[in-house]
Amino acid sequence: MSAPIGIFDSGYGGLTVFREIREKLPQYDYIYLGDNGRAPYGPRDFDTIYAYTLECVRHLFDMGCQLVVLACNTASAKALRTIQQQDLPHIDPKRRVLGVIRPTTEIVGQFTQTGHVGILATIGTVKSQSYVIEIAKFFPDLKVFQQACPMWVPLVENNEHESPGADYFVKKYLDALLGQSSQIDTIVLGCTHYPLLIDKIRQFLPASVQVIAQGEIVAKSLTDYLNRHPEIEMVCSKNGKTTYFTTESTQAFDEKAAIFMGEVIRSNHLAL
Ligand code: DGL
Repeated sequence: MSAPIGIFDSGYGGLTVFREIREKLPQYDYIYLGDNGRAPYGPRDFDTIYAYTLECVRHLFDMGCQLVVLACNTASAKALRTIQQQDLPHIDPKRRVLGVIRPTTEIVGQFTQTGHVGILATIGTVKSQSYVIEIAKFFPDLKVFQQACPMWVPLVENNEHESPGADYFVKKYLDALLGQSSQIDTIVLGCTHYPLLIDKIRQFLPASVQVIAQGEIVAKSLTDYLNRHPEIEMVCSKNGKTTYFTTESTQAFDEKAAIFMGEVIRSNHLAL
């Protein structure tokens, strides 16, 4: 039996990844689940992020998904490995859960000339050291500098990311990152919410610094994954249909998600 691909995020941020996935792979069916009711995940402790993520993954499995993408760095950093290693073998060893950190760290070294890379992410992702550890596996010579940006997700979730008030917090965290090394020439937006701030981020950075968003990288990596795993590809249904679920108000989700996706959205409420 085939089923949609599940896409999970704590809120709206995963839509920046999903948009690119669907553009590259329009033939598949998708279920997007945003846990907006409990976002942000970033400042929460390991156990909570893991418990929330697992609960949402289980809901996507209950809806039939055989493959789930955690389109959330915080969940990828704090919950993915445990879910893959401890939970999946009991739930169903044939199902797969993928994250967004590995595809990004595999190629980040291609972008930098100076070898100094900056990572902007949530407190949870920064504390997990996932980027530092993963980048060291692929590009051991790179120097990685991290900066947590705890105010950025609330700005996006509350629709304040384009307001003049957002400038202060965008500049504050960029200054703190660049203060760690003047040689940083590549900055990874290591949180799927941050691409919504990309114009403001660019505005406060020297032109020589390039900003990497993950959407396209993850979409390409998922395409490669499906090519390499025909047994998973076969169980992904293909009618080009997307269904959205949110754990918050569907009205708020529909309005916001429509801006991300450029189409009318009618989401469903998922009660947790
Ligand atoms: N969008 C998520 C990420 O990529 C997390 C945002 C949050 O809930 O704090 O990290």
